[in-house]
Amino acid sequence: MKVRLRLTVNGEARDILVVSHKTLLEVLREDLALTGTKHGCELGECGTCTVLVDGAPVLSCLALPAELEGRSIATVEGMADGAHLHPLQQAFAELGAAQCGYCTPGVLLTAQALLAECPSPTRDEIREALAGNLCRCTGYTKILDAVELAALRMGAGTGAGVVSTGAGVAGTGAGVAGTGAGVAGTGAGVAGTGAGVATARVPAP
Ligand code: FES
Ligand code: FES
Repeated sequence: MKVRLRLTVNGEARDILVVSHKTLLEVLREDLALTGTKHGCELGECGTCTVLVDGAPVLSCLALPAELEGRSIATVEGMADGAHLHPLQQAFAELGAAQCGYCTPGVLLTAQALLAECPSPTRDEIREALAGNLCRCTGYTKILDAVELAALRMGAGTGAGVVSTGAGVAGTGAGVAGTGAGVAGTGAGVAGTGAGVATARVPAP
């Protein structure tokens, strides 16, 4: 059975017909073509599928989209401001905080929620916030470094970062903000997909 849903994703109203049993993860990827949000365990254990709902990290593999009408859903595709990377994306790119990149979208969004609540987190606070995002590549140190760098820049008002338009940082190929394997992309990059560091995340109500 299909149901009609009106969702707000990355600030845009979306009116779609979807199979009623689909999770938010499936709807984002299969019905809205927002493939930056990645499939992982689909059991609520890896954090790879993390999106933000009203600014808070939510595991999209456990969330039912029908319950999210009227809420604000944010995915990694919404982090960059046009060609300008989010400071977190920029810091991840500069410090090499994404290895295969599969965990990166979930990590970025979790870190974004952390910095919105706590602009100058300690190392331990960052580690705790990211505790639910597993990274298969175990690149945690650089991830922590990148979040610290972004926090520093955002605090200093210099954040929004570098921007490029080619196949690099903001490109469409394998670059940081691309749609392939890049930081803000929809593939496996910094803003791509993944398994990651960790947060106390809550399934959507
Ligand atoms: S895919 Fe959702 S927590 Fe692993
Ligand atoms: S960078 Fe490969 S899973 Fe995290």
